[in-house]
Amino acid sequence: MTIRVLSIASEAVPLVKTGGLADVVGALAGAVAPHDVAMTTLLPGYPAVLAALGKAKQVHAWPSLLGEPARLVAGRIGGHALLVVDAPGLFRRDGGPYVDGNGRDWADNGLRFAAFSRAAADVASGAVRGARFDIAHAHDWQAALCAAYLRFAPAGDAPPSVVTIHNMAFQGHFPRALFDRLDLPPEAWSINGVEYHGGVGFLKAGLESAWAITTVSPTYAREIRHSEFGMGLDGLIRARAGQVHGIVNGIDTHEWDPATDPQLAAPFTVRTLARRATNRARVEAEFGIEAGTGPLFVVISRLTWQKGMDVLLQTIDHLIGCGARLAVLGSGDKALEAGFVAATARHPGRVGVRIGYDEGLSHRMQGGGDAILVPSRFEPCGLTQLYGLAYGCVPVVARTGGLVDTVVDANLAAIAAGAATGVQFNTVTPDALAEAIERTVLLHRQPAVWQAIQRAGMKSDFSWGRSGKAYADLYQQLLEAR
Ligand code: ADP
Ligand code: GLC
Repeated sequence: MTIRVLSIASEAVPLVKTGGLADVVGALAGAVAPHDVAMTTLLPGYPAVLAALGKAKQVHAWPSLLGEPARLVAGRIGGHALLVVDAPGLFRRDGGPYVDGNGRDWADNGLRFAAFSRAAADVASGAVRGARFDIAHAHDWQAALCAAYLRFAPAGDAPPSVVTIHNMAFQGHFPRALFDRLDLPPEAWSINGVEYHGGVGFLKAGLESAWAITTVSPTYAREIRHSEFGMGLDGLIRARAGQVHGIVNGIDTHEWDPATDPQLAAPFTVRTLARRATNRARVEAEFGIEAGTGPLFVVISRLTWQKGMDVLLQTIDHLIGCGARLAVLGSGDKALEAGFVAATARHPGRVGVRIGYDEGLSHRMQGGGDAILVPSRFEPCGLTQLYGLAYGCVPVVARTGGLVDTVVDANLAAIAAGAATGVQFNTVTPDALAEAIERTVLLHRQPAVWQAIQRAGMKSDFSWGRSGKAYADLYQQLLEAR
């Protein structure tokens, strides 16, 4: 029997993206489809989403969705079913999905994503004629309240719910006053419900209410049981450990295929690695970096503390001292952005920086860079190291979260076994990162070893195959437990 799943999220490729969440939500329907799961994705009606839909069909209307008129429209995303909550007062505005044009959080984010989650619960529990779902699968805090609505105030027959944590650092925490606008019964205001430190916790409420919890790698699933990574919710995760599953992300291997990538000057395969030199020369030219014999390190990242970018800044002089070069694409904290720009002035022709967001450039960097640096302090899964593996851009990663689960460190045993795919280092400090960079430079000086690492990476399993099956199996188990 086909399992019908409503996948609920605040972003999805190719319509709206601020980070890896969008890649994963955009790929999930295709990942589970081979396992007899029909997934419909539900998104908020931001201007870009509505524009992409064109003349879409309205399938439902809410005179008042937590006080706002809204309608539900149907379309397609990547060949799969899409539903969009068009609430003009909440989502039709310029700026980002979460922030205004000046980068400030929208003041009504609590209400916006509560309304979205209320709509999701309605759709999932059969309030919309013609739409039936067996499972509601909500992603991150923006959708997590859906699980609480299904538990405390379902509109009909509530299906089992799954909440996926893509990042425990973002929890959706709002003042007590918001509770009165949520249309939840009084009993929802409890320590086992939505109450969190005297306010409303969206992710917390979802994790308390969901039938199952997943996160995006097995290592992160273990890490969030501890206070260092649990961000205050480690006790809840420990209490629900039996319902917590770690399922590692895959990548979209059509979008990210070095053999066919239209962004690459010289597409290549595992057998034609030498062609990467052409791509490298193009990246160097784009960043104003001089050619050289040392490796070209690349970074494609939010420039934030989570990503260890402050530590990288402190290590740049050492990296250049080792004969390597560095190209950085990213945006985020203003102080970090300024720090990287200053590094280009200190090392002209050796360090290049592009502040901003550029999907095409990110592909070209993966196809031409020698190694990608991911020195994250925590990383639920991480996708850029997976793109690096696929493109022979050797990942140099901190030993945390999904980075542990996806990269095999080039220690002597792993090299001898032909299993090494990258470099891992332990603590995110300038010394440890410097040592990892030195180790990478030494490996790069041995072409046979380096190419073996690249090839092993390109052949490693970063597809959605196993994880698509794991989600399908979880849905099946929940239906059987019902
Ligand atoms: P996170 O979601 O925590 O930022 P991930 O590694 O899971 O980290 O996903 C980041 C996604 O965003 C990847 O697809 C990456 O290629 C992309 N990305 C990050 N910064 C940029 C940028 N400045 N330009 C283009 N793509 C970027
Ligand atoms: C979050 C995490 C990242 C993960 C992504 C997709 O943004 O920070 O590690 O890869 O979600 O699951």
